[in-house]
Formats: sequence, C-alpha cells, structure tokens
Amino acid sequence: MKKIAIIGAGNVGGQAAFFCAQKKLGRVLLIDIKEGLAKGKALDQNQALYLMGINPLITGSEDISSLEGSDVILITCGVARKPGMTREQLLKINLSIVRDISHVVKRLSPQSIVLMMTNPVDILSYACMKFTGFPRERVIGQAGVLDSARFATYISQRLDLSSADIDAVVLGGHGDTMVPVPEFTTVSGIPLPQMVSSEDLDGLVKRTRNGGAEIISYLKDSSAYYAPSLSAVLMIEAVLKNEKRLFPCSVYVDGEYGMKGVFIGLPVVLSEKGVERVICIDLPEERRDDLKRSFDFYRGEIEKIQSEVEA
Ligand code: 2OP
Repeated sequence: MKKIAIIGAGNVGGQAAFFCAQKKLGRVLLIDIKEGLAKGKALDQNQALYLMGINPLITGSEDISSLEGSDVILITCGVARKPGMTREQLLKINLSIVRDISHVVKRLSPQSIVLMMTNPVDILSYACMKFTGFPRERVIGQAGVLDSARFATYISQRLDLSSADIDAVVLGGHGDTMVPVPEFTTVSGIPLPQMVSSEDLDGLVKRTRNGGAEIISYLKDSSAYYAPSLSAVLMIEAVLKNEKRLFPCSVYVDGEYGMKGVFIGLPVVLSEKGVERVICIDLPEERRDDLKRSFDFYRGEIEKIQSEVEA
C-alpha cells in the first residue's frame, strides 16, 4: 500500500487524512507536534471508517521522522490567516516551519512527491522546492482546484443550475492576483460570458478572488477546510493512481507563458511523476495581462525571501 504523510493535523490536515482513507488511497500517517492531536483524530477517524466498512488506515504521530518512506507528503501545517490578515503576512512564520519540514522530507523521503497547502502557498511551494532540492515535478502547490471549485459553485448558485455542468478555470496565484478565466469557463460547453451579464461576471470573479477571506470572515478563528482538503486529496489521488488529470496547480514555471522562476497556478497534468506536463494555452489578452501581473507580484515576493531559501 502507498504511504501518505500529512503534516499538520489541524482542520485541513485532519480532514485530508479522512478523505484519503475514505477513498482508500493508502496508509495515512497524520503528524502533528501538538501532543495527542494527531493520535486523537486518527482514533476517532478509524472508528468512523469502521462504520463505513473500511479498515483502519490512519495512524497519528507526533514524530516528524515517521514520515520516512512516504510516497506523497501533504504539508498543511503552519499558522492560518486571521480575519483581515493577508496570506503573505503569514509568510514569515510559515517559511521557517516549511524549512524545517523540507529538510526532514529531503533526508527521509527523498523520492516523495510533496503537495503544499500551507499559505502563502505559491511562495512556500517555491521555498520547499529550494529547501528539498527536488525537481519541479515533485513539488506542487494546491490552490487552483480549490479556487476553480469556488468559482464553479458561485456560478451554479447564480445561474440556478447544476454544478455538474460547470467547468471553471482559475489560474494565477492563490491570492489577490488570482486569475479566474471566464472565457474558458463553460456551462455544459457554453462559454460563461454568454450565460451572465458582465456585471454579474465581475461579481463572480471578485467573489472567487475573495473566496478564502469570505469564509474566514464567517468562521473568524479558522479558515476554510472541507473544500481545501478535498482539493488536495483529488491531487493525491491523481498522483497515486497515475490518473493524468488536468488540474490547475501551483507549479514552478520554467519558460511557460513567458515566465520563469516562480510558482504560479497553471493547467498541469498530474501523474505518478507528479507534474507530468504543463499545458500552454492561448489566453485572451486581458487574462495574459492578469497572469503577468500575478507573476510580477510573486517574483517580487520571491526576491524578498531569496537569501533565506538559498542559505
Ligand atoms: C483558502 O483559500 C486557506 O487559502 C485557503 O481558503
């Protein structure tokens, strides 16, 4: 059986462990330094799995070195945003956490594929690639699956029709420079701009960009976790089952779309290699500009941490 290590047993990590087990993707190791947290959740979850007719698959641990020999490692730990806080403000705290974890991953699971959830996800994915020295195929950030799910959900509600018929495309960074692409978002094949007024479209795009903050404003002391964790688990599934799904993922750009040297959300085929390939499409001019703006923003952010990640 494959081994999935989930680092951080908070809301996102805990829920991701449960989704992985529910889908029987492998043995799941849930790790958290907070005493008892991962062990307690694992016990509870295994009992729920029993009720679903699934054998206990989840183990809790406080020991980061137990991730040894993992096939996939999902990093969810770190500080979550409080109301009014930007993802980038989290950077300082979470960068040092990702540094420590990356060094353990490099030593004990040198062949693993790492999925980053911790925010700011695009910047920390870059940092993790640097700290581990892994090739770009094996460090991937989760953002676009979630952001597209949010866009699709809002569209479904606005149009009052089934979400099953909506395919939403959201690229760019997971933050204020996110790039929803209405032109390539379809409702049963019909381009979204033909289904809604331009005013409604603007509202849907803005709401998508603000999707995480909207939920924080309700929850107050937590950020979203059901959709974020399932988004990551669908990516884990694509990797472990070599599904070759095409997902928007935060990926290291190496010349694609005329960009280089940052992680940003692009259409990626996920396979057992991790990033199988990045798909290059002709974006409408306005979206190309949006993507360039997002790239410029992240390039600036990465410059600020360059000395720390090279050290
Ligand atoms: C979100 O968008 C926490 O970044 C995460 O909900």
